[in-house]
Amino acid sequence: MKVFAPATVANVACGFDILGFALDRPGDTVRARLSSEPGVTIEKITSQFGDLPFDPAKNTASVAAAAFLERYKPGLGLVLEIEKQMPIGSGLGSSAASAAAAVFAAHQLAGEPCSKADLVEFAMLGEAVACGSAHADNVAPSIIGGFTLIRSYDPLHVLSIPYPNHLRTAVVHPEIEIRTEDARKVLKRNVPLHQAIAQFGNIAGLVLGLCTSDSSVIATSLDDVIIEPERSVLIPGFMKAKVAAIEAGALGCSLSGSGPSIFALCESEEIAIAAGKQIAAVFQEQGIASTTYISGINNQGAKVLD
Ligand code: HSE
Repeated sequence: MKVFAPATVANVACGFDILGFALDRPGDTVRARLSSEPGVTIEKITSQFGDLPFDPAKNTASVAAAAFLERYKPGLGLVLEIEKQMPIGSGLGSSAASAAAAVFAAHQLAGEPCSKADLVEFAMLGEAVACGSAHADNVAPSIIGGFTLIRSYDPLHVLSIPYPNHLRTAVVHPEIEIRTEDARKVLKRNVPLHQAIAQFGNIAGLVLGLCTSDSSVIATSLDDVIIEPERSVLIPGFMKAKVAAIEAGALGCSLSGSGPSIFALCESEEIAIAAGKQIAAVFQEQGIASTTYISGINNQGAKVLD
């Protein structure tokens, strides 16, 4: 079985660790087959983006699939082939896409014993080995698709947020690497109450704007007063790129996940292309090459290819 799971934009400005949406592309592909040997093994990894561990205890894909099998089909064996089709440490949810694809493949081969949403908790374990934190804001949209909210981590409660279908995004990946683990270490541990209040308002406003297709509420709510100011200093030209994307008509622009990719959420493909060009031009001025992805919000998430 061959499975695809998409890249994702996590946080979506104000929703640190709780909001995310899926892209049409890029994404990772995992081939999986059942084996008579219990446990999960990795047979092959194809990646032009650096080495990934073959040790099943260290690879995000095998960890996620093994946790799923342990719960639903202990004794079943699985052999994985991972095709990385996006850069690691990019802010595109690279580790999440591999975990999502592997757990979804395991779920299919095991006869679909649970819902797609139930797979999120296993894929989160893959995130924990990849970056030391079991956040779900990349794995949830990669598995389920669409725009997702992690309403609660304990117990895990994932919800899908309705969104206007015309939304498009530009995600620009500059060729620098920021490991999520490092980008989490720079964050302060305490948040002043006034910042928390501003952020709560933006999260609620963004969700309401998405549900009611209110572009001006979406635009005004795409503002992160807590995380972006701390992380954006790691990305040369960030503020200039953000201003340029908004001038090009984007509803908002912020870091994609923990960066260094930047996303701009837009009301049309045309605006997304223009915003993407502006962001890429700023990176070019900084002497940094970049790749731009233009995408709608992928409402399917992980899927079987063949
Ligand atoms: N919410 C996570 C973070 C996403 O910002 O650290 C990482 O892709």
